[in-house]
Formats: sequence, C-alpha cells, structure tokens
Amino acid sequence: MSFPKNFVWGAAAAAYQIEGAWNVDGRGPSIWDVFSQEPGKIFENHNGNVACDHYHRWREDIGLMRDLGLKAYRLSLAWPRIQPTGTGKPNAKGLAFYDRLVDGLLEAGITPWVTLYHWDMPQALQQRGGFLNREMVEWFGDYAEIVAARLGDRVKHWMTFNEPPVVMGLGYHEGKFAPGLKLPFADCLLGAHHLLMAHGRGVQALRAGCTGPVKISLAHTSRERIPATESKRDIEAARHDYFASTERVMWNLSWWADPIMFGHYPADGVKAFGADMPKVTAADLKLIAQKIDFLAYNCYSGWQVRADAKGNAERLPGGWGTGNPRGTLSWLEIAPEAPYWAARFQAQRYGLPLVFSENGYCNTDFVHLDGKVHDPQRIDFMARYLRAIRRATDEGVPVAGYFYWSIMDNFEWAEGYKDRFGLVHVDYQTQKRTPKDSFYWYRDFIRSGGAKL
Ligand code: FCB
Repeated sequence: MSFPKNFVWGAAAAAYQIEGAWNVDGRGPSIWDVFSQEPGKIFENHNGNVACDHYHRWREDIGLMRDLGLKAYRLSLAWPRIQPTGTGKPNAKGLAFYDRLVDGLLEAGITPWVTLYHWDMPQALQQRGGFLNREMVEWFGDYAEIVAARLGDRVKHWMTFNEPPVVMGLGYHEGKFAPGLKLPFADCLLGAHHLLMAHGRGVQALRAGCTGPVKISLAHTSRERIPATESKRDIEAARHDYFASTERVMWNLSWWADPIMFGHYPADGVKAFGADMPKVTAADLKLIAQKIDFLAYNCYSGWQVRADAKGNAERLPGGWGTGNPRGTLSWLEIAPEAPYWAARFQAQRYGLPLVFSENGYCNTDFVHLDGKVHDPQRIDFMARYLRAIRRATDEGVPVAGYFYWSIMDNFEWAEGYKDRFGLVHVDYQTQKRTPKDSFYWYRDFIRSGGAKL
C-alpha cells in the first residue's frame, strides 16, 4: 500500500545548530553560547558561532528546500534573538529575520512548522534559575505571545518544546549539554514540572495570539521499545516498558506525555519518586493539560524487549548484539522497526495522530573525487524507517508526517561538527552546500508521493 494522500513530507533543523551570527543584530547570549565557549565541553571545542551561517544564507537554503520538493520545513526560533535577555521588549531585528524566513518559505510553497524552544535559552534566564524558577512559566508565555503576534498570521503549525528529556536529562541531570548541571533528581523533577507548565502557557498564548485555527504539539522523544517477537506476550512487555515511569531518569516518555494528555503524572512514577516529587496543584495540572492537536515525536533508535518467564519486560542485553549497525554516534543504533512501534503504542495510548518531527542518520560524509556526496547508508536507513512507517499507516495507525533530520549538516551539540546528519553537505570552511545522493533520493521519493520505496 502507500502513504496517505496529504502526508506531510518535511525536513528539520534548529536555530543554534545552523544559524551562526551569534552576536549579530542584537541577539543575546544563550546557554549554548556559554557552554560551547567553555573548553572541553564540545568535541574539539567547536561552537555554533558561525555554524552554517544560515542567518545570512537562508535564501540559498530555501532554494535547496524548494529543489528538494519539501512540503514542510521544521525550524526553531532563537529566543535570545527575539528577547536578548529572555524578558521584556522584543528585538525588532531578531523578529524581522524570522518574518523574512517565514515569507521566503511560503513563497517557495513550503509550510513552516515552528518550534519555540530547541534548547537555546537566553543565558540571562539561566542566571535566574532557568527551569528551576517557576517564573519560567510566565517568561515562556510572554515569549510565545510575542511570537504569535508577529508570525501567527502565517504560521499554523507549532511545537512548544523540543525533547524535554534532553533539556532536563542531559542539561540539568547528567551535565552533558548546556547548561551543564548535575542536579539531584528532585530538582530535575521540579524543573520538569515547570517546563510542562511553560508548555501549557505556550499553548494558551499561541491559541490566543494566532489568527485562525492552529495545530500545536510538543516534540517528545525517548528510546523506543521493540518487541523481540510479535507474540502477544512480547508486545505487551514492550508496551509496559515503554510507558513505565519508574526509572530515576528524565527519559520516561509517560512522565512527559501523560500530564499533557491525561492531566496527571503516571502513578507508578509518583509512587517510585516519593519524597522527591515536587508540590503539584490541581491548577498546575490544568495548565499543563491544555488540548494539543497532534503528537510530535523524534524517533531514532530503540531497544528490543521480550517477556521473561513471569511476563515481565526484559531488555535484551547489548541492544542488538555485537557489531550491530549504527551511525557514527554511538546511541544511533539502527532500529528500523522503531517508528512503527512508537506510532502504534502512542496512538493507542494517547489517541492523537502522530508526526515524526525528526528521524535521521549520521555519518562522516564527504565530497568525493567526482564532486558528489555518496551516502548509500543514509538512503538505506531512510528506506528502512519509511517502510516501517508505511506499515503503520497501512494498518490504520494515524501517522500524518515525517521530517528528516536534518536538511543540512550542522552543529551536533556536544559532538560539534564531527557527525553529519544532513541531506545537504556543508563545507564549514567555505560554506559551500552540496546536495548528497540522499537529497536526490528523497526528492524522487517525495515526487512519487511516497510510492517509490
Ligand atoms: C535530536 C535533536 C536534534 C539533533 C538530533 C540528532 O535529539 O533534537 O537537535 O541533534 O537529535
């Protein structure tokens, strides 16, 4: 069978990873500017000061997206461009940049899907406690209001936050990403609660400030659970493990998704976290549980899970076994069934259509002697994952879109420029863009309406 007719074919990127122009036109410093200037935090001390210089080259980049035939492009806004210190009067030049970008996309026939927060918090807000400060809810709400007033006449697809588990897990708990904190679990739960409330305020502000109906979500992620076999026992074990919230980590999917969808935290986690739980009021939960319109989900990898003799979930040791295929980043084990099970489990639990807001493959792509970038592994990766998504839609699981990560090579956070995810190769010394073989493969695939697989 084939994909639904109006399926959204897209690609994604995020502000700090591509824009560069870090101190231009009134942009304030973000936590990622500060973190990446600190020696030893990023591979070879790279930073996003220049990145892909998309801030100046956006016209060329939109041209490439048009050649690719993208229906939609997922971008994020740099909060410190819009409010350099995170609060107060907006910076006109920062807003004007996104205004031009949105117009440029629309002129090219590409629908912008906009994320408000893809990790680049204004440093001034971090100095005031960041997510540990309950005022974050209002700071974020004010920011969303400014954005809605300026872009809400043209932007109809929104995501409030990108990947809360990374924000709070890698940023506040494990210290690997900005702002590099290693806080006790109780503090992380408090920060997570404020993040969810900020999401709720963001949804309210977007709905109130945009013209006409809008579609809003938050881009979740976790590690997918893939049943070791398709026996009922293994499927139920995988499902149970997927939605369990008892591990003392920030990666539990239901911890983030249940409060939004059901208006309460998962009972197993509340019990397991005990005295570490923050004070949660009914009003807080009401704010968090604003209606959203779809599930946005970033899907890369997964674990195999089977039922043990008692029916309990058991993760298979070592993921997929010695020498399993993966990308150049160690966490990117190739698990093509991941999006199928993610969509199936989530659609059943939460009852909303799902959009894959990210999925992609990283390698050490380079320009070959013939001047082209041959990336057969990426093409194979995409074909495998897309087949799994097609299986889901064939079975009636409501999947509505797919955004490849990323439109172009970019600053991969703590890994710097080492690992390349793009459909377009970027030479960081010259800023030359070269579409990879996968770019042309995806172009033909989109042209065929998803039939060519
Ligand atoms: C996701 C991030 C995105 C990118 C990919 C590889 O976790 O949202 O910015 O770094 O991973």
